[in-house]
Amino acid sequence: MKPIVVRGLVKKFGELRAVDGVSFEVEDGEIFGLLGPNGAGKTTTIKILVTLLKPTSGEVFVAGNDVIKKPSLVRKSIGVVFQDTTLELDFTARENLDFHARLYGMTKEERKRRIEEVLSLVELSENADQLVKNFSGGMKRRLEIARGLLHFPKVLFLDEPTLGLDARTRRRIWKYLKEFKGETTIMLTTHYIEEAEKLCDRVAIMQRGRIIAMDSPERLVRQLEGERVTIRAENVLKLKSALKDYSVLENNGRLEIFVKNAEYFLPKLFEIARAEGVAIEEVGVRKASLEDIYVKLTGGEI
Ligand SMILES: Nc1ncnc2c1ncn2[C@@H]1O[C@H](COP(=O)(O)OP(=O)(O)OP(=O)(O)O)[C@@H](O)[C@H]1O
Ligand SMILES: [Mg+2]
Repeated sequence: MKPIVVRGLVKKFGELRAVDGVSFEVEDGEIFGLLGPNGAGKTTTIKILVTLLKPTSGEVFVAGNDVIKKPSLVRKSIGVVFQDTTLELDFTARENLDFHARLYGMTKEERKRRIEEVLSLVELSENADQLVKNFSGGMKRRLEIARGLLHFPKVLFLDEPTLGLDARTRRRIWKYLKEFKGETTIMLTTHYIEEAEKLCDRVAIMQRGRIIAMDSPERLVRQLEGERVTIRAENVLKLKSALKDYSVLENNGRLEIFVKNAEYFLPKLFEIARAEGVAIEEVGVRKASLEDIYVKLTGGEI
């Protein structure tokens, strides 16, 4: 059985269907990302998968076990990193890890070896004996990832692992997760679309409790035609109506058009503009990104 199997998952809070019929499977060793606007149901989904919340209906198997029928087996085989820190601030980094390792019944020898290993993975070996309360946000996050990996989980869940971290620390965290890829199946949520694009083998985009798209970032981007052209002109509305054969978005007084090949499109654009008597002030071209398809599918909801 695949490490994560979710079928027809529903979670209601009163009348609200926070998760509204979600199905997906995650392959062995995959990094799977859940994207979506605030309130889409990402955290609720993860909480059900890690046995912290009971589903209203549907089936969920993690590491081969049913989360409702065998929650303790599920807990043993997963690691979890939540948004809010759950570290003991008055303990050192090593003490935090040791405490966790004991909970998982690791032997003294195992604990010693494994704690050194994970500390070195997240580049905290030198800070091992400092109190966690003196750690920066990024150091705490790295320690939590180390802790999540300590007991060799089959599946690691991370809810917004890099929220609020600087760009460099975020990249380091991607690096650790990539190093672990293959050994561990990873499911994460993020608001950083670029992060999902760089890190995830597949992503699901969630909105209002449902999955509205799911595929590899490359294939999702390919749904949009290859390149994004942005245009600034003196009369964008007039130009927009003249470009009725294309799907044109208007954004901050600019037009955005996705085309297969900008090289062929640009001469046509200038021809149309000349015929309409609209002066083009600026044209930009770049490859379509996951962010573009995300904005298109979610309607730009934050
Ligand atoms: N314990 C709860 N009781 C009632 N409603 C809840 C509870 N937990 C979540 N909700 C609601 O369920 C919906 C989904 O919330 P959830 O936290 O899963 O969203 P999310 O996708 O993680 O959002 P964000 O990007 O802001 O973290 C929201 O409308 C939220 O208000
Ligand atoms: Mg959330």
